[in-house]
Amino acid sequence: MTNISDAQVNVFAEKYGSPLFVVSADSIKSNLETFKAGFCNKYPKVVVAYSYKVNYLPGLLDVIHKQGAWAEVASGFEYGIARKLNVPGESIVFNGPHKTKEELEKAINERAIINVDHFDEICQLEEIASTLGKTVNIGIRLNMEVGINQLPDRFGFNLDSGEAAHVVTRCSENGLLNITGLHVHLTSYIVEKESSDNIPAKGIKLIWPKDHEAYRKAAEKMVNFAKEIREEFGIKIEYMDMGGGFPTVEGITPYVDAIVEPIIKGFNENDLPVLILEPGRAIVSDAAHLITTVVAAKEFPSGQRAVVVDAGINLLPTSYWKYQDIEFFKQSEQVYEGTIVYGPLCLQTDIISKAELPELSAGDRLLVKNVGAYNIPQSTTFIYPRPTVLLIDGNDIRIIKKREEIKDLF
Ligand SMILES: Cc1ncc(COP(=O)(O)O)c(C=O)c1O
Repeated sequence: MTNISDAQVNVFAEKYGSPLFVVSADSIKSNLETFKAGFCNKYPKVVVAYSYKVNYLPGLLDVIHKQGAWAEVASGFEYGIARKLNVPGESIVFNGPHKTKEELEKAINERAIINVDHFDEICQLEEIASTLGKTVNIGIRLNMEVGINQLPDRFGFNLDSGEAAHVVTRCSENGLLNITGLHVHLTSYIVEKESSDNIPAKGIKLIWPKDHEAYRKAAEKMVNFAKEIREEFGIKIEYMDMGGGFPTVEGITPYVDAIVEPIIKGFNENDLPVLILEPGRAIVSDAAHLITTVVAAKEFPSGQRAVVVDAGINLLPTSYWKYQDIEFFKQSEQVYEGTIVYGPLCLQTDIISKAELPELSAGDRLLVKNVGAYNIPQSTTFIYPRPTVLLIDGNDIRIIKKREEIKDLF
């Protein structure tokens, strides 16, 4: 994120209250540009569909769509947000395991890309196609072994077991659904068992980013599958959707190569599919920080230093899995010491960080950095309302979400 100074932190907190999310439009724009350029420099047909679930505040989505990105949505609710922002149906990728019949009909009518998750959805779509009296285009979500721990993957059809091939046979036999795309998402984090005390959710370590070779493996398997179904059923794959899970944009090149090389090798030059990418975290993670204020300083009998701040896991639920990066601006002569940063909730587990900090006192401001991904949409009103979100767009500073108040509950 464009740097935010000590002075700004205090001015913003005084003017808009604390805690306060601050989002940088410039960071979003430059992340999107770098991400897209990374792929466009090596592949001719690229679509970037930003993953709404990661942070779908309309003011932030507006910045993203003005940069030309499509929407990747995982529910009819998110689909509705995209349409309200005037994203045309044909620029929406509709994913997710729960789409109602009405939502699917709307998406079909509006020519959205629909990636199917399971056989019940196939049944629903077949019914719709019969009623409409026409063939409906679909993509299928795949899961497969690619050498990383994605947990048992509950999404999509398994490629290795022949389940995905079964879908293809079914679709070509009954002629109601036409498979035009293949989709995969290799999960955002990968998971490793870990017993270290340093991990908030003890026993589980989340790793991000994953090895880029996992993408190569997935792309190779999908290209082979595309070839097989072309030979056997004459099915032409028009798009390959490689999902999200990418690192910060500075490290994107090996991921680009891992995805693009197998596709270029596996398809004829004139028949290259559109490459769809669904980044979320890579675009918004470092574009938002949270300003928080110390409400109490503590020292435990063990000598352990701690502070209580006004934002906890209610606003930063990703703190269950990782400690947040905290910045304290004031230069201090004091000794920096390992400090537990507690939130204000009545929960022993409400810890957002363990950080090296000087001795702090009530009223000091801290900046919790790079919290733009998966926090705001998963935040709760547990004990406290959700705070204001501020967007800084060049010289323009505006509120894109108001602090919730008691009246909002009634
Ligand atoms: C289908 C799909 N696409 C894209 C994403 C975005 O992932 P990330 O934020 O890691 O880029 C997700 C997140 O879970 C997802 O489920």
